[in-house]
Amino acid sequence: MRVEVLPAGSWAEAVSGELVDRLEPSGLRLCLATGATPVPVYELLPRDALATSTVFLLDEFGGLPAGHRARCETMLRTNLLERVPAGAFYFPDVDAPDLSVECERYQGLINDGGFDLAVLGLGKNGHLGLNEPGSTPDQPTRVVRLTDETREGARNYGADPPPNWGLAVGLAEILESREVWLLVTGSAKATVLARVVNDEVTVQVPAALLRTHPNTVIWADEEAAHSL
Ligand code: PGA
Repeated sequence: MRVEVLPAGSWAEAVSGELVDRLEPSGLRLCLATGATPVPVYELLPRDALATSTVFLLDEFGGLPAGHRARCETMLRTNLLERVPAGAFYFPDVDAPDLSVECERYQGLINDGGFDLAVLGLGKNGHLGLNEPGSTPDQPTRVVRLTDETREGARNYGADPPPNWGLAVGLAEILESREVWLLVTGSAKATVLARVVNDEVTVQVPAALLRTHPNTVIWADEEAAHSL
């Protein structure tokens, strides 16, 4: 695991520049997170950056109406894809009548080539996507129950009441990704980032499982990295 620490003022520019370099010339199969952390990176991508790439949404909250601003699909469209369209965009349908069939469908699309690069955020409780503490590295794409901390995060995105379940791309698919980037900013993530980097690898901190992955980069700003 490589840890890159950058000043907060140049973090987004550095990460988006690196991403553009990776995307050229032929595009990638990307798994992209929503949430607040990647937004400044997405905002700096040029309009044609994803034209030859396939984008998979990392996760989705259940129980919110289609188009709700706190839905992950809505956030990714609003914060990125409406301005920077992807060659193809896949996302899970949490309104499908049979969610286990839907998980299999989405996982099949993912596994038909895997991810070249997964761009992820870090939950304050150590979650990766909606893979909450206790998730194991072999768990596939599935419906998950959300922790109170994650529900509070969804409330901050505008879901009130917040959802109590979601559909998560599994740690199995994430850990199969050829490369993983973990984006971490702000002092509120300093304690959990120190656990990810320095403490023992445990399923109680799912992001720490990235230490078992051969090609992971943590892109942290100095505030998030101050306890490392
Ligand atoms: P945030 O969420 O980027 O909004 O902090 C990250 C996460 O909870 O995975």
